[in-house]
Amino acid sequence: MKIAVIGTGYVGLVTGTCFAETGNKVICVDIDKAKVDKLSNGEITIYEPGLEKLFLRNLKEGRLQFTTDLATGVDTAEIIFLALPTPPGEDGSADLRYVLGVADDLGKIMTDYKVIVDKSTVPVGTAEKVHAAIAANYKGAFDVVSNPEFLREGVAVDDFMKPDRVVVGTNSERARKAMSDLYAPFVRQGNPVIFMDEKSAELTKYAANSFLATKISFMNEIAQLCERLGADVDMVRRGIGSDERIGKRFLFPGIGYGGSCFPKDVQALIRSSEEASYDFKILKAVEDVNAIQKKHLIPKISAFFNNDLSGKHFALWGLAFKPNTDDIREAPALSIIDELVSRGSTITAFDPEAMGNVKKLIGDKISYASSQYDALKNADALIIATEWSEFRTPDFEMIGSNLKAKVIFDGRNLFDSKYILELGYHYESIGRP
Ligand code: UDX
Repeated sequence: MKIAVIGTGYVGLVTGTCFAETGNKVICVDIDKAKVDKLSNGEITIYEPGLEKLFLRNLKEGRLQFTTDLATGVDTAEIIFLALPTPPGEDGSADLRYVLGVADDLGKIMTDYKVIVDKSTVPVGTAEKVHAAIAANYKGAFDVVSNPEFLREGVAVDDFMKPDRVVVGTNSERARKAMSDLYAPFVRQGNPVIFMDEKSAELTKYAANSFLATKISFMNEIAQLCERLGADVDMVRRGIGSDERIGKRFLFPGIGYGGSCFPKDVQALIRSSEEASYDFKILKAVEDVNAIQKKHLIPKISAFFNNDLSGKHFALWGLAFKPNTDDIREAPALSIIDELVSRGSTITAFDPEAMGNVKKLIGDKISYASSQYDALKNADALIIATEWSEFRTPDFEMIGSNLKAKVIFDGRNLFDSKYILELGYHYESIGRP
């Protein structure tokens, strides 16, 4: 099939590349000329494991192309994906400026039937608005479909190629047939393409992310309780996760969820609910709990140093909001840095991928180390904010000999408490004795 993808951000690039990989001819459109030039020259613009190989292969085979010209992009495309940013507006609701702007342009350009697909996470009712924006300028037949993405950063290629499910919102038979054909290679394992109306599809995306965020905040509150009662959250997690109704995944307590999706989508659903005159009480609590959890290590660190953090120096392992990404949006590490620096501490950080992005954001507010062990020199304690694999089984002798004292605050529960205490460390983690 011939496909256009408008927007070459994270979702657009993964979507375009993966559709090209299954033999479609894909043209990606972006207004950013520098980005389009880079991509056309084989330079990938995001870090996502496994993507570069597919990107280069499909670029070379001519199945993947890039342009700044919307008209060229959509000219021969049968299906047009909108993968545009929907940043939170001042009140937390999703800003549809980019989506509707492109819809308006599409109406002026289109000359024959096309399926327009909302891939961006958009509030309920957006498909209708996109439809209206196109129809204002184009009087022929076309369909607008909602097809939310459920990609996790770090495993996005796998999530795209082998989805648990594909959700498609449309009441049009013609669009349904096109989307079925397009996704057929991705659901050969028997996973479903679930067809529904546009509004239900739009809400499904927000409901999925908000439910997962709720699971995390719930476990973070259980962890808080464990700390007060002397219970072990690891045991409680295993005890409840074995119940299939609850499930084992997404029950890991820590220093809160971050990233580009959960915080934004939870907020947007709260705002959408308000607009629909509904007070979504649980979600407000999910947000509040997360804000507290992001700073949960601070009182522990402060108490250990007798409530005086001025002049203290910390090693910080992990800056990305989660492993296998360089994404630092809403990263708990940034909250920790803000808090510690405002209390007069200094920090040397190490992250395998995200240091460049942090440097761009906060510059020399902290120092950056060339390795995880290098970060430890002369530090009063080690703080762990992201669970990168290479932090999981470190050389504890090296840690001990580099730190001023054997003190670790672990926001991701990486180590076995008993083992590490035997090694002579002062060790504090989340929800465990
Ligand atoms: C998420 C959704 O999983 C994905 O389906 C959607 O399309 C986009 O948002 P992503 O933001 O890439 O993906 O990250 P994810 O792996 O889901 O983790 C989100 C956050 O939750 C991270 O900050 C992570 O550290 C945290 N988390 C996750 C926990 O604190 N505990 C858990 O048990 C799981």
